[in-house]
Amino acid sequence: MKLSDLIKKRVSVNKFNEKEVDVELVKKLLDDAVYAPNHKMREPWRFVLLEGEGKKKFVSEYVSQVGNLQKEETKQSLSKVFSAPLIVAFIMPVNKDYRDELEDLQAVAALIQNYLLLATEANLSTSWKTPKYIESEVFKEVIGCMPNEIVVGLIMTGYTDLDVQLKQRKRAETLVTVYK
Ligand SMILES: Cc1cc2nc3c(=O)[nH]c(=O)nc-3n(C[C@H](O)[C@H](O)[C@H](O)COP(=O)(O)O)c2cc1C
Repeated sequence: MKLSDLIKKRVSVNKFNEKEVDVELVKKLLDDAVYAPNHKMREPWRFVLLEGEGKKKFVSEYVSQVGNLQKEETKQSLSKVFSAPLIVAFIMPVNKDYRDELEDLQAVAALIQNYLLLATEANLSTSWKTPKYIESEVFKEVIGCMPNEIVVGLIMTGYTDLDVQLKQRKRAETLVTVYK
């Protein structure tokens, strides 16, 4: 498939069928995705894969550690994202220098888009999620973040039976100014 078609084939999908995702396939996709541009070759990323029993264990451990008041709300929100057969958590070291940190975030975003496109090519469906709870100390601890790391995003990954339509975009030509 042409890259321009693949870009348009990728859409956010939130409902997946029961088919399991092969962890080795996801590792292979990530192995290609890491060829994203990244400044000074800092390669500011690592990945946590949550699926099967590990995913269940993670959710129950996280829910048990969240205070009672937040439990219901958290459970509802978690159950949406963690309904995907496999979640990839993209983790980045914090960078003490603000500009370096911005560059690192941009590098991780480029890497995530690589992953989304490679997953689409492999007939997987995905959705990029950044729920507020990924910033919480409890979530970071349970997922295994080091004190100097943040979770940039969670990518729901699985197979779908749905035919999700592309959301149209403004034509770039309406947004372009050619500097003269
Ligand atoms: C950085 C980033 C964070 C996002 N976080 C969320 C999120 O928390 N929840 C959600 O439903 N979608 C989230 N999305 C997905 C966007 O809503 C989605 O990409 C957008 O509506 C365009 O639809 P498409 O992906 O089908 O083209 C996020 C996308 C990006 C790039």
